[in-house]
Amino acid sequence: MRYLNVDTAKKISKIGLGAWQFGSKDWGYGDSYADNVADAIVGRALELGVTLFDTAEIYGYGRSERILGRALGDKRESIFLATKILPVLPVAPVVEQRAVASANRLKARWLDLYQVHQPNPVVRDGTIMRGMRALQQVGLVGEVGVSNYSLQRWRAAEHALGSRVLSNQVLYSLVARSPERDLLPYAESHGRVVIAYSPLAQGLLSGRYDRDHRPANRVRAANPLFLPENLERAEGLIAALREVADAHSATPAQIALAWVIHHPSVVAIPGASSVEQLESNVAAAEIELTDVEYQALQAAAARFQPITGAAAWSRVARARFGRGTA
Ligand SMILES: NC(=O)c1ccc[n+]([C@@H]2O[C@H](COP(=O)([O-])OP(=O)(O)OC[C@H]3O[C@@H](n4cnc5c(N)ncnc54)[C@H](OP(=O)(O)O)[C@@H]3O)[C@@H](O)[C@H]2O)c1
Repeated sequence: MRYLNVDTAKKISKIGLGAWQFGSKDWGYGDSYADNVADAIVGRALELGVTLFDTAEIYGYGRSERILGRALGDKRESIFLATKILPVLPVAPVVEQRAVASANRLKARWLDLYQVHQPNPVVRDGTIMRGMRALQQVGLVGEVGVSNYSLQRWRAAEHALGSRVLSNQVLYSLVARSPERDLLPYAESHGRVVIAYSPLAQGLLSGRYDRDHRPANRVRAANPLFLPENLERAEGLIAALREVADAHSATPAQIALAWVIHHPSVVAIPGASSVEQLESNVAAAEIELTDVEYQALQAAAARFQPITGAAAWSRVARARFGRGTA
């Protein structure tokens, strides 16, 4: 495993583990996944040197935190445990109470990283950061993070907290590259971290799916990338991933992850539906892409032009509610 070169109390692994899948009905992995496989995934992740584990109070309405807490058991020494608050009514006493509730579900004495899941469109960050500051002062929270924040709002959050907001967890993958514009340069120049979520585009970049083999679960039924037309349009990008993968005796998913964490300030938190996937994702941390390979992937990503916006959403709705074909 490789670790981030940022000054934190504990090392942060370049590949972490996303735990949304744990206990979430929307991923549809079922009870034996939640009761057994999740524990095995976490156990293997610990053995392989993963330190970053990411969950949220909203995932499975607390179930993901409970499963992760159970699976981690007492192996807490070197982990960097991250969860998130959904900022509904984010006044300080509520923030403090919600952190305690998350820590209890996680069976944790403290949270290494407590993130604001998304910017509240109405309430400014001064309100929530008052709670965060109090949590840091009593030692329940180590680092504060945000998620889905613009650069401007990330900086405003730091101003409100009065110290660093270590990380911004955002959508970042070969099919979602907007963080390259300003978040990555900011993180690099200020010793901050970008945590890439959906780094495999929810499995699209594994190359497992195509027009005739689409995943069946609610998360991906609602993701326009899995529309048949978009799966077809992604074929060139998947082919580029396969070509690089062949040169490294790796898989397209591993190359997609190696591409994401190529940047020094980025870590990725792929979810996994099996222990094998977790092992494969961890191994991606060791893959060094050459400049030529990196550029070839950028170029293939730029050529991928999915259907987006209203056109995509109307197709998703039609496919979901059965009016015509997607
Ligand atoms: N902050 C936010 O707003 C936000 C939003 C979304 C996610 N997140 C976080 O980010 C984490 C990851 O994002 P995500 O789950 O949306 O997407 P992801 O990590 O891109 O995709 C995960 C899915 O990809 C497939 N996969 C994983 N490893 C694979 C491998 N080695 N080979 C082939 N397929 C593989 C699995 O699905 P199948 O096996 O079923 O194909 C798995 O469930 C979440 O768990 C969550 O912690 C945060």
